[in-house]
This record gives sequence, structure tokens and C-alpha cells, in this order.
Amino acid sequence: MCGIVCYVGKEEAKPVLLGGLKHLEYRGYDSAGLAVQHEDDVDYCRSVGRIVDLERKTDSMVIKGTCGIAHTRWATHGEPSEENAHPHRDQDENVYVIHNGIIENHDFLKKKLGKAGIVFRSQTDTEVLAHLIASHFDGDLNEAVRKTMSQIEGTFGLAVIHRHVPGQIVVARRGSPLVIGVGEDGYFAASDVSAMVRYTKKVVHLNDNELAILSRDGYSISTAQAQSVERATETVEWEPEDAELAGFPHFMLKEIFEQPETLRNAMRGRLEIGEGVPKLGGIVPVWERLKECRHLVVVACGTSYYAGCAGMYIFEKLTEVDVQVELASEFRYRKLNFPPDTFIIALSQSGETADTLAAIKEAKRKGAGLLGIVNVVGSSIARATEAGIYNHAGPEIGVASTKIFVSQLAILTLLALLIGRHQNLSLTDGVGAIKGLLALPDQVQKILSQDNHIRAIAEKYYRCNNWLFLGRKYGYPIAMEGALKLKEVSYIHAEGYAAGEMKHGPIALICPEMPTVAIIPQDAMYEKMASNIQEIKSRKGPVIAIATEGDHQIKELADDVIEIPATLDYLNPILSVIPCQLLAYHCARLLNRDVDKPRNLAKSVTVE
Ligand code: G6P
Repeated sequence: MCGIVCYVGKEEAKPVLLGGLKHLEYRGYDSAGLAVQHEDDVDYCRSVGRIVDLERKTDSMVIKGTCGIAHTRWATHGEPSEENAHPHRDQDENVYVIHNGIIENHDFLKKKLGKAGIVFRSQTDTEVLAHLIASHFDGDLNEAVRKTMSQIEGTFGLAVIHRHVPGQIVVARRGSPLVIGVGEDGYFAASDVSAMVRYTKKVVHLNDNELAILSRDGYSISTAQAQSVERATETVEWEPEDAELAGFPHFMLKEIFEQPETLRNAMRGRLEIGEGVPKLGGIVPVWERLKECRHLVVVACGTSYYAGCAGMYIFEKLTEVDVQVELASEFRYRKLNFPPDTFIIALSQSGETADTLAAIKEAKRKGAGLLGIVNVVGSSIARATEAGIYNHAGPEIGVASTKIFVSQLAILTLLALLIGRHQNLSLTDGVGAIKGLLALPDQVQKILSQDNHIRAIAEKYYRCNNWLFLGRKYGYPIAMEGALKLKEVSYIHAEGYAAGEMKHGPIALICPEMPTVAIIPQDAMYEKMASNIQEIKSRKGPVIAIATEGDHQIKELADDVIEIPATLDYLNPILSVIPCQLLAYHCARLLNRDVDKPRNLAKSVTVE
């Protein structure tokens, strides 16, 4: 998804901006550009493709100055091309603007500007911003942006420089993330802290409908109504090294292998074994209401949605709460009708997913309480919710989400356990749950040690164009997540199905060229899953079983077996997802795919 990075200070801006853009690459993009202001001029460069292409292009140009803006674009309006890449300029080439989000009334504004004689150079919605800002400019760039904001419908995180306003960047936001970085030798702004964490860990988040002026000497924030805003800086928890490969060939593999630590981080300081009750400080503000709550709605997108689906079964097991899981993109447009004591749980790695954010805003309007389970501290969802629990998983860079899934499951289990223990879950069950959770990091490690075996299975099947993933109950969301992972990174077509539904359709596809990954741990669904495998085998379909260690029967049934350690039935998803992630990774590598930046995908989807 589009990325913004800005710098003004004592250093030359170009290398800072290019370095920042490289840290935003993981979000997904198709073109990039930058503009640097110096004296009464702006140097400017755009390119289709990767940041290295932009870098190469700028090598042969003079780009001087200590104040600049840069952008990675993920096409929404207009194809990926140099003309459509940001920054965009006004007619006289004074204003340079970069923008994340969507200007919904751009057609109307474009017609209006067209009538006034403006000729558009691109097919983007963003270009209207450059022309509008130029039309309002009378020496005060901040005022020109403020006036433009009042004309725009839609979402934006934007940054602007002006040829004749030296050493100043104006940034503004409505609906798209924008963070200011306070450095030793200058000031930054970015859509994502990873672009500037190498320079500073002190950040200030802009809220919706706020603007800020950055200069070499400081920054000032104001509202769209011109009221000045004082806001304390926050400190980012990450280390710059967290966003580096640490010897792994890809972020996806690094993050898969980080999962034992991810689980420890999700549980650190939160487990009290004696009472069988976890401690979740982040939900204290709403606890009195939450403990009485009988209805929870989990809203999320992508992998987070599948974590929510598994969470539903965990809540069903540990609590008396009625849980519903909804795709945020659907939920936000539904007629919402829930009991007054309902809580919404927004699950999101980035905390910026536009549909999830919109869904919780709509639910709030209807009176629901809002909780967030979010990885990025200070993100929009973290701030829009009343209370919440952070994953503390460090940055997830690989576009396909892996470590956050297990972290979300661990946290949903903690939350279910906390609520369950205040309902009728026994001390024995509470202590058992905590023991089960504490064993998980080592159990995940044990699965990771089978990486070579899993790679060998991938080598056997990666040329198959269609795969089926089957599971029941706790295994069903893992089947869906396993199929999603495979298609995301390898572009192999895969379906995730509830095994009981196989006979209603997918069984027609079974043939020797279509492998099925069967999630079949030792739980109450075991016999039913075994019957499904038999049905597949009798139709000559190859079966890769993800099964519990010591299960001898499964070795007779399936072509290949990946073993997972024994755990409590509701914790199985945290283990059975790991082989699915590794299978997807190895298939993608064998097919020579760009694992960390799969085509057409974005890490953080900040548009609808
Ligand atoms: C994008 C990413 C997925 C992610 C989904 C939800 O599609 O590519 O990996 O699961 O967004 O993101 P969130 O940040 O809300 O968890």
C-alpha cells in the first residue's frame, strides 16, 4: 500500500528519503518518487518499479537540499506509470504533493478545475490536491492545505512542499496514518514508523483532521479548524534491527521462525499460573462491563479474520459468551443489530486496515464497546478503541502475515480465559490452559525443526496447480488460513474448506494432481477427519496430513505426515498453522516467487 516519508533537517534529504522508502517496500507498491526543495527550486524524480530503480535514476540527476518528500504508490486510480507516480505537481510546478488514501470527490473536483483551464497530467485522484493547494496559496502553505482539506471528501495522509517556501513541509491526515518523528538533527513524517525508526524512536501521531508544519527547527500541529494542538511524544518499542533479515533469506521465513518468541512476547507478564487467570492490564478500563458481556463480535480482514474464526471456537470452549466473527468489509455495511452489552474486538496487525477501522466506527455509533488486539502501538485502530491488548510482536514485514496469527490466537485465548474464569470455568481448567499456553513456544520450535521434511513435501507437490485444505472445528480456520497463505505467496490456487462440506462440492475436484492438506490433530473431530481422508484416498487424491505425534493410524492413511506435538484441543490451531506456513513458503520459493512482496498484494490495506 502507498507509503509516505518526509524529512527536513541538517542532512541531505535524498539518501534519508530513499533509505526510508526502502523500509516501506514491504507494504507493497508499484512505483515511487521523491521531491526535494532547495533555495527557490525543487528537484524531482519518479520511477515505475522498485526503489532501486528510482535510486538508479536519481544517480544521474542533481537532487540537492535538506527538505523533501517521498512516496511509494500502490495503484488505485490509473495504472502504475511514471505519470501516475507521486509526487504530483500543479500547473506552474510550484506545489509537490504525495498522498495515501482516496479522494472520493475527485471527479467533481477535476471537472471544476478543468473548467478553470487546468490540464491534468495523470489519471490519479491525487493530482487534484496539487491544483487545489496551488489555487489557495498566497504565501502560507499550511493555510492553503487547510482550505484544500475542507473541499475534499475521502481519506488522505498527505505531505506537501512548495518551490517558494523553503525548508517547510506541511502534512495532514484524515483516515490514512501519518506519524511525525522527532530526531536529533531534523524532523520526519511517515505513514509507518519503520521508515524512520533508524533515525528516531520519538514519535507523535497525527489524529484525523489535523495538519502539521515541519521545519528544521521544529514542528507544530493544528486542527482543520486552526486550533493549535499540543501532544506529547511517544517512544517506539522496536529496534532498527527488528526490521532487518538477521541472516534469513526472507522476512516471511524469519517471521515464521520467530514464532516461539512471538508467543513468549504475547504472554510475557500476563500469565498467573496459581489462580489460572491471566493478567491483561490493557483491558482494565472496560473490565467491569466486559466481564458481564454476553455477546462479542470479532471484526477483521485477511489472516486476522481467520485468527478471529479460530478465536470463536476458543471462546466457545472457555466462556459462556456468544461470539460472532465478521469480515470487516461486509460488517461495516450491514444493518447492525446487537444487544446493548455487546463488545466488538478489532483484530489487526497494522491497526490501519481501512475496513476494520470503518467497521468499529460504525459499531461504536450503534453503542457497542470497542476492544482492539493490535500489533502497531499508537495505530489508528489502537487509538479508536476504548481498550485493548498489544501483540508486542515487533514489526511484521513479510506481506503474508504469519507470526501475528499465532500471537492473535494466544491473546484471544488469554482474553477468553480471563472472561471464562469469571464465568464458570474451573480453576483446574484455568491452570490447565495456562500450562498448555506456556508449553507452546517449545512445541512450535519442535515443528520448526521439521523444516527440511516440510520442504521435501513441498518439492513433491509444488507443481500441482490446485490444492485443497480441510479441517473441522478448530482445524477449519487453519484450513482457510493455510489455503490463503499458499495462494498469497505461491499463486497456486487453493481452497480452504470445512471437511464436512467436502461432499457438497470440492470432492468433485479430487484427482491425483490435486493434493489435500488435512488438519487432523487428536481431538473430538479425529474420526470424522479420518473418514474424509479415506474418501479422498479412494479417489486417488494425495493427502498431506498435519497430525499429532505418535498417531500411527494416520501414517497408513496419508501419503505424507507432518507431526505436531500434543496440546489442548483449542490450542491445536497455534501448532497446526506452522506447517501450513512453511509449506506455502517452500512452494513459493520453488516457484521462484517474490515471497516477501507477492504481486498485487499490500501489507497494510489503508483503502477500502
Ligand atoms: C492485508 C495483508 C494481510 C493481512 C490483512 C489484514 O491483506 O496482506 O496479510 O492479514 O491485510 O491486515 P491487518 O493489519 O488488519 O491484520
